[in-house]
Amino acid sequence: MIPDSMNVIVNRVMKPDMSSYSPALWQIPLSRPLSEKVEQLHQSLFDRLSLVSGQHQVIRFASSMAAEDMVLIDAMVKVSAPIEIFTLDTGRLHQETLDMVGIAEQHYGLSIKRVQPEPRDIEGFISVHGLNGFYDSEEAKKACCRARKVLPLDQALSGSDAWITGQRQEQAVTRVALQFAELDNARDIAKYNPLFDWLAADVWTYLEHHSVPIHPLHLQGYPSIGCEPCTRAIRADEETRAGRWWWLQQANKECGLHVK
Ligand code: ADX
Ligand code: SF4
Repeated sequence: MIPDSMNVIVNRVMKPDMSSYSPALWQIPLSRPLSEKVEQLHQSLFDRLSLVSGQHQVIRFASSMAAEDMVLIDAMVKVSAPIEIFTLDTGRLHQETLDMVGIAEQHYGLSIKRVQPEPRDIEGFISVHGLNGFYDSEEAKKACCRARKVLPLDQALSGSDAWITGQRQEQAVTRVALQFAELDNARDIAKYNPLFDWLAADVWTYLEHHSVPIHPLHLQGYPSIGCEPCTRAIRADEETRAGRWWWLQQANKECGLHVK
């Protein structure tokens, strides 16, 4: 059951309450009007998902519940893609992210697996670095992401022959060479990025025209959403991932989920 407060959020998809925006913060980009070109883009996404569905036995989608991933959930439902959806519940996510899992499940009538880290891996990290030791060194940040994200990702993908992500080339300097289809060398399975060539405006246009529920932090200046202690809202003039691990250089902002 979705609490009433969250229903308000779902209902704000089409008409966000502009009074909650601060002009200094990043804001959701304006949607494009519906046109033949926009419809073609959406159809090409549906075609990509159908193509992947026809080529693999066990396909899993890693969803963070942020904007790109909500586009993909909506599109997967529309083409009835036989894709299992999971989220990495790192133990440090915002409550809003955890709520979004339930909202998406209820909105689409599907089930999303919550994959949690092994307690012994977390205890190991904390005993060496401390709970928030990731602020202190890049090595500690990598170790935390490994325990809370990468090892659980390995577990989530075990037994699958393909996985899907919501990554886009435009998101980061580390993603400019991203392609639709890749080989996940570490796991020797296929990896697909169906939104690899989409722009932010394409994402937000899809979400609006298909009335997709959106993560409430997008209405509070967050274009990109990860763990709570490592994510902050950004100003309108900052780079999209400036709020992720803001104490690190742009080139070091991958957490290990997408290493080649
Ligand atoms: S991250 O590597 O910096 O955290 P980002 O937030 O840009 O990644 O998301 C890129 C893609 O990684 C998402 O579209 C999704 O496929 C996957 N992803 C990121 N965080 C999670 C999560 N908590 N659970 C599942 N998948 C995730
Ligand atoms: Fe740990 Fe931050 Fe990585 Fe989350 S994003 S796993 S809290 S270092």
